[in-house]
Amino acid sequence: MAMAMALVVPFLCVSALFGLSFAGDPFAFFDWDVSYITAAPLGVKQQVIAINKQFPGPVMNVTTNWNVVVNVLNSLDEPLLITWDGIQQRKNCWQDGVLGTNCPIPPGWNWTYQFQVKDQIGSYFYFPSLSLQRAAGGYGGITVNNREVIPVPFGKPDGDFTLFIGDWFNKNHTALRKILDDGKDLGMPDGVLMNGKGPYRYNTSLVPDGIDYETINVEPGKTYRFRVHNVGIFTSLNFRVQNHNMLLVETEGTYTMQQNFTNLDIHVGQSYSFLVTMDQNASSDYYIVASARFVNESRWTRVTGVAILHYSNSKGKASGPLPDPPNDFYDKTFSMNQAKSVRTNVTSGAARPNPQGSFKYGSINVTQVYVLKNVPPVIISGKRRTTLNGNSYSPPDTPLRLADLYDKKGVYTLDFPTRPTNAPPRIGASVINGTYRGFMEIIFQNNDSIVQTYHMDGYAFFVVGMDYGEWTENSRGTYNKWDGVSRCTTQVFPGAWTAILVSLDNVGIWNLRVENLDTWYLGQEVYVRVADPEGYNKTEMLVPDNVLYCGLLKDKQKAQTPHGSESSSTPALRRGELFKLMFLLVSFAFVL
Ligand SMILES: *[C@@H]1O[C@H](CO)[C@@H](O)[C@H](O)[C@H]1NC(C)=O
Ligand SMILES: *[C@@H]1O[C@H](CO)[C@@H](O)[C@H](O)[C@H]1NC(C)=O
Ligand SMILES: *[C@@H]1O[C@H](CO)[C@@H](O)[C@H](O)[C@H]1NC(C)=O
Ligand SMILES: *[C@@H]1O[C@H](CO)[C@@H](O)[C@H](O)[C@H]1NC(C)=O
Ligand SMILES: *[C@@H]1O[C@H](CO)[C@@H](O)[C@H](O)[C@H]1NC(C)=O
Ligand SMILES: *[C@@H]1O[C@H](CO)[C@@H](O)[C@H](O)[C@H]1NC(C)=O
Ligand SMILES: *[C@@H]1O[C@H](CO)[C@@H](O)[C@H](O)[C@H]1NC(C)=O
Ligand SMILES: *[C@@H]1O[C@H](CO)[C@@H](O)[C@H](O)[C@H]1NC(C)=O
Ligand SMILES: *[C@@H]1O[C@H](CO)[C@@H](O)[C@H](O)[C@H]1NC(C)=O
Ligand SMILES: *[C@@H]1O[C@H](CO)[C@@H](O)[C@H](O)[C@H]1NC(C)=O
Ligand SMILES: *[C@@H]1O[C@H](CO)[C@@H](O)[C@H](O)[C@H]1NC(C)=O
Ligand SMILES: *[C@@H]1O[C@H](CO)[C@@H](O)[C@H](O)[C@H]1NC(C)=O
Repeated sequence: MAMAMALVVPFLCVSALFGLSFAGDPFAFFDWDVSYITAAPLGVKQQVIAINKQFPGPVMNVTTNWNVVVNVLNSLDEPLLITWDGIQQRKNCWQDGVLGTNCPIPPGWNWTYQFQVKDQIGSYFYFPSLSLQRAAGGYGGITVNNREVIPVPFGKPDGDFTLFIGDWFNKNHTALRKILDDGKDLGMPDGVLMNGKGPYRYNTSLVPDGIDYETINVEPGKTYRFRVHNVGIFTSLNFRVQNHNMLLVETEGTYTMQQNFTNLDIHVGQSYSFLVTMDQNASSDYYIVASARFVNESRWTRVTGVAILHYSNSKGKASGPLPDPPNDFYDKTFSMNQAKSVRTNVTSGAARPNPQGSFKYGSINVTQVYVLKNVPPVIISGKRRTTLNGNSYSPPDTPLRLADLYDKKGVYTLDFPTRPTNAPPRIGASVINGTYRGFMEIIFQNNDSIVQTYHMDGYAFFVVGMDYGEWTENSRGTYNKWDGVSRCTTQVFPGAWTAILVSLDNVGIWNLRVENLDTWYLGQEVYVRVADPEGYNKTEMLVPDNVLYCGLLKDKQKAQTPHGSESSSTPALRRGELFKLMFLLVSFAFVL
């Protein structure tokens, strides 16, 4: 399999060229062409978004503190931004790849992201962040390995597999957008993909012939790490490997208390790592299943992803029924208890040798409290929209962070309500005013009828509590103040709340959104502005010299000759030339 070009340049005298913040650590370079390819994962031909013609895109396999340089060429027919879910972009929201911080890359243009995976380990993924594009693909894994010197709380696995699971429609993202724009629901997905492929034909009447499915090849007796990401649109999935225990070891950068699961609910946008030991007798292949959760199974049977676990000594094909999902259509507590059982191993180190539990979040005083309530879609000015505290976010033409940099007033307002209000819902760009170095408590109250997952860019947060019903001040008595898991994406069950704590130590303007694509598209997001009161240039990284301009600042943008032609001579381009030169030098060194 052809991976995207990845190259690590050791620290030479490079630091002088890149500025202090990138000094000392290796660089990894990627060159990505993002384009449509034709694929038929469920047997129906459609345009999917690929990276270097691969769907899913390549896994970006890097190590703590590496500098990542990704030159993204937009060969789509619409604007593009790639966001790096869970990569904290410390003091560098310029590279976050969402509309609040970046102008979109126009079709035919390329743009080079450069960021450091500072003080992080774990399993994450990237995806195109604009208007439902993820529903057409464009995603891929980000694996951040430990530095060799840092101990890991389990033995080195014999192999590492990245598995993307997600619901899928045979309609493309533009057709799905139209459905939402027309004020309708997306309805039931057509299936679940695993690594961009349809289900194994476990049942001849449910799965048509000729569908390409994913096979994971393993050796008996060995132990593998499976990094599983739900990259889907809105469906929560139950994940299981027939006859095998899945030892949960990590989620979104935190080593968890290790425990075996026979199945785990993985909600949209969430990532988990399991160790799976090939301890069965290989009398046949085994099913790997991701099935729709909290739905009427008999209506939703086709919304099931099935891949194959194939031992090298397997005696035959998998057959018979799939392993059972949890039998709890009427029992709301199973999944929530499972979620609460995912806890931090406080004694284990992660990116640094000091224990993950050293940051005693339970004894820090909260300085700001936000209760964010979503309700089922409402009509605002004739449009069907989703809201948080009555605000339906609509991205301004000028990114918020750029508006601040150039002191353009009126692009957004800093008046996001701290609690749900009775005011009539409105469409706009109302932003949360976060206090730099404050400690924020956010309670997500989900008034809708399906699970919503919330993600915050720039941060990992502590998930301290969740329960059914309305959150009240008394709910704080139930918080886990000791080993709540630190992650970047949390589920909020319907009719329930989830509480998180977040230490606002990362300067920038950061997106806080629902990961469910349909409700996100309709406005269920907000930004948190975390400004250093001492001003720009103190703690935050400088705006990159290749920054794109748009909206009120569009006059500052120089034209780019489509498809990365090298005729221009802006400083950004010269820097790009430099990368190329270094690449040549290092390739030459390898040859020698
Ligand atoms: C998406 O589907 C619509 C309707 O089937 C079609 O007109 C359009 O060309 C497709 N767009 C892409 C990017 O595949
Ligand atoms: C990822 O990188 C690590 C460390 O550099 C290496 O050990 C591992 O084999 C790589 N994994 C894959 C899947 O390429
Ligand atoms: C576009 O790609 C070229 C090389 O293909 C590179 O030199 C240039 O820096 C890139 N442009 C931007 C804005 O990143
Ligand atoms: C927690 O981490 C420690 C230190 O790495 C390790 O020895 C222990 O087995 C882990 N415990 C669990 C339950 O994962
Ligand atoms: C295949 O699925 C159908 C519909 O759910 C079911 O009626 C049938 O029993 C299944 N066939 C087998 C062989 O399991
Ligand atoms: C998990 O299950 C495996 C067998 O599949 C067993 O060997 C191991 O001891 C179990 N680990 C824990 C922590 O329960
Ligand atoms: C293999 O394991 C399965 C399931 O545990 C069992 O039903 C079967 O009899 C075993 N086959 C052999 C050859 O040991
Ligand atoms: C599930 O759907 C089937 C078919 O539409 C229906 O017959 C059945 O009553 C439903 N079951 C539940 C528990 O709603
Ligand atoms: C937290 O607040 C309490 C009471 O308001 C105060 O006594 C305590 O010193 C504060 N703790 C810290 C770490 O600021
Ligand atoms: C935002 O919060 C800061 C304190 O962190 C405060 O100084 C400032 O006045 C607030 N701005 C608005 C518009 O409320
Ligand atoms: C939604 O909120 C209303 C009003 O507070 C409440 O009556 C209803 O039970 C809530 N529904 C859910 C699913 O939370
Ligand atoms: C930030 O610092 C740079 C270089 O020191 C300077 O050129 C720029 O004007 C400063 N910007 C602001 C907004 O202070």
